[in-house]
Amino acid sequence: MLRLENVKKHYIVKTSPLSKSQIVKAVNGVSFEVAEKESFGLIGESGSGKSTLGHLITRLIPLTEGSIYYKEHDISNSKGKDLQSLRKDIQVILQSGKEVLDPKMTVREHLEAPLRVHNICDYKDYDKRLNDLLSDVGLTADVLDKFPPALSGGMLQRVTIARVLAIEPKLIILDEPVSALDVSIQGLIINLLMDLKDKYGFTYIFITHNLKVIKHICSRIAVIKDGEIVEIGKTEAILNAPQSDYAKLLVASILNHQK
Ligand SMILES: Nc1ncnc2c1ncn2[C@@H]1O[C@H](COP(=O)(O)OP(=O)(O)OP(=O)(O)O)[C@@H](O)[C@H]1O
Ligand SMILES: [Mg+2]
Repeated sequence: MLRLENVKKHYIVKTSPLSKSQIVKAVNGVSFEVAEKESFGLIGESGSGKSTLGHLITRLIPLTEGSIYYKEHDISNSKGKDLQSLRKDIQVILQSGKEVLDPKMTVREHLEAPLRVHNICDYKDYDKRLNDLLSDVGLTADVLDKFPPALSGGMLQRVTIARVLAIEPKLIILDEPVSALDVSIQGLIINLLMDLKDKYGFTYIFITHNLKVIKHICSRIAVIKDGEIVEIGKTEAILNAPQSDYAKLLVASILNHQK
């Protein structure tokens, strides 16, 4: 479904007008494939390039080098109409609803917008579609006329998920989708996402620095460090017998944490 070939994203940064430019290699030659219906994980510490990879796959930012194929189409340079249809297929869910929901728009407006933009159904069917979406994410119709500041973090994330599901994407990038939530709610939202995967049949790439979470929800993972993949394979195999020094450290840190 998705194939990355030697993908790079380099930034040229200058810390002050007089200093020399430096190259930040946020993503530096990453290749991997994700099969349809697969649950794939990207793990690595802060600053390793996980979100940048997510942005590259969703084509929110241009690549410096390399290629990304979606269903065998090279999307590395997609523009205009191609990009618009890509947006229907590949969506992203970020850390918290606060980052993406407009505090001045009601939940109804947030959920109707994708139906309209992507021409998902007739206007007369909006109410039914909205009710179905809300029930899928465990909310009720009374939130429709509320504004984001009136909702809890967990409810906001449910609205964000409903907004993405409205488009019925084929691939969802989940970029730390629960790390901003209370620990008590994190498990609920993860379970919800798993149920929705079964119901909607999407493929996902789950980005996190938390190996504990990934164990339950990803069949295969790539461990990323300084913009490069240091290990890739079945989750169980990597957790039970990490090969690279870095993956060994990551796994050991969780085991210590659990003691
Ligand atoms: N627009 C940018 N300009 C310059 N450097 C950037 C830019 N965006 C990201 N970077 C750098 O690229 C590297 C990777 O960043 P990225 O946000 O992808 O990491 P991450 O793995 O998602 O981290 P976190 O777990 O904290 O979310 C970091 O060193 C970051 O400072
Ligand atoms: Mg990130």
